[in-house]
Amino acid sequence: MAYEHTLSIIKPDATSRNLIGKIIQLFEGNGLSISACKMLTLTQEQGKEFYIEHKERPFYDDLVSYISSEPVLVQVLSGEDAIAKNRQIMGATNPADAEAGTIRALYAESIDRNSVHGSDSTQSAKREINFFFPDFT
Ligand code: CDP
Ligand code: MG
Repeated sequence: MAYEHTLSIIKPDATSRNLIGKIIQLFEGNGLSISACKMLTLTQEQGKEFYIEHKERPFYDDLVSYISSEPVLVQVLSGEDAIAKNRQIMGATNPADAEAGTIRALYAESIDRNSVHGSDSTQSAKREINFFFPDFT
């Protein structure tokens, strides 16, 4: 086990349904701590840059519009194995495949309105934390 930091986003479908508290309760209740946190609305440019790895995917334009459409809550979550643990708490990308009790099983509306983002590797966690919190150490 290693102590890690990971980036989490509570996405527009969740912030707009007042689910921030319930979602944070799942992070904190499962051993992750919030080390940094802010609410903002991404510009289209920020959305494009954040999701650049999906540039060639058919859903890219819709994903960028969606993530930039309404306020999101971005957080650094920290703890033992935080990157994998956050992905477990989130559940599968498609809520139809998400394990019972995960955020996406409980709250996601669909694969494209799936309530949360979480970094998927050490490298992406580093990039994504730096994207939103350049002074985070
Ligand atoms: O978010 P996660 O890492 O689980 O999935 P991803 O494969 O990195 O895809 C990023 C995001 O693109 C997803 O969370 C969905 O919001 C969106 N997506 C979509 O709209 N349609 C798909 N077929 C796949 C992903
Ligand atoms: Mg991903």
